Amino acid sequence: MAVTPRTLARWKQEKRPLVALTAWDYAIAKVLDEAGVDLILVGDSLAMVALGYETTLPLTLEEMLHHAKAVRRGVKQALLVVDLPFLTYQESPQQALHSAGRVLKEAGAVAVKLEGGHPEMSEIVAKLVRAGIPVMGHVGLTPQSVHQLGYRKQGTTEAEAERILAEALALEAAGAFAVVLEHIESQLAETVTAKLTIPTIGIGAGAGCDGQILVTHDLLGWSDRQPPFAKVYANLRETIAQAIQTYSNDVRSHPQVVPQTSGDQEKTR
Ligand code: KIV
Ligand code: NA
Repeated sequence: MAVTPRTLARWKQEKRPLVALTAWDYAIAKVLDEAGVDLILVGDSLAMVALGYETTLPLTLEEMLHHAKAVRRGVKQALLVVDLPFLTYQESPQQALHSAGRVLKEAGAVAVKLEGGHPEMSEIVAKLVRAGIPVMGHVGLTPQSVHQLGYRKQGTTEAEAERILAEALALEAAGAFAVVLEHIESQLAETVTAKLTIPTIGIGAGAGCDGQILVTHDLLGWSDRQPPFAKVYANLRETIAQAIQTYSNDVRSHPQVVPQTSGDQEKTR
């Protein structure tokens, strides 16, 4: 059965952990969906990891839509959430509605994620929710604010921790169906998780969240900039490099070896 924002609320009550990962193209999305991942996020980490930008800030809504459409084609069961890129929602509730509307109407996403939980952001979230658009929040380390926050752990002082808890509560009150907690103290993540009725999804926030998310390329060891908190489950960079090396050696040192299988019957495209 397809996962919906309502499913998530029930799972929190049942203490069933939520498995979430990122995807930016059809091929990866299909693998994740078929593996039973509950929530697939077209994260704007796309900007840095797949498109090579220095930060997430330059990513446009058009670029995001291009990738979100590809991911949509690979997802059948998982809940599909798409990040709204920097400055495609912060300006006003109207701007957010316009951008989120495109993500749902053109890319077929079910929900959007946006960063921050200050009062203006809660107002924006409330506007989207009232229009029927499910919203996922994101507090703690919010990479779209990198020029203010850097990439350091958040919530390390009492004042910061109180602010992050207040933001998460405000997002819940505004109608968000879940909230990502990125790179915060695990004690704080546990407190936030206990105080919210909506699920928390942690990344670098300890084991006390209702679910976990990672950038798929990070867990596969495929990123060129690995965050300190991401556990690496495979070493795809090395595997790919070795395969390319073997292929290159085949081509260069054995010109008589054709590096292709022969049969026409094996053709699938
Ligand atoms: O952009 C992204 O991949 C994200 C997740 C890491 C939460 O926002
Ligand atoms: Na993001």
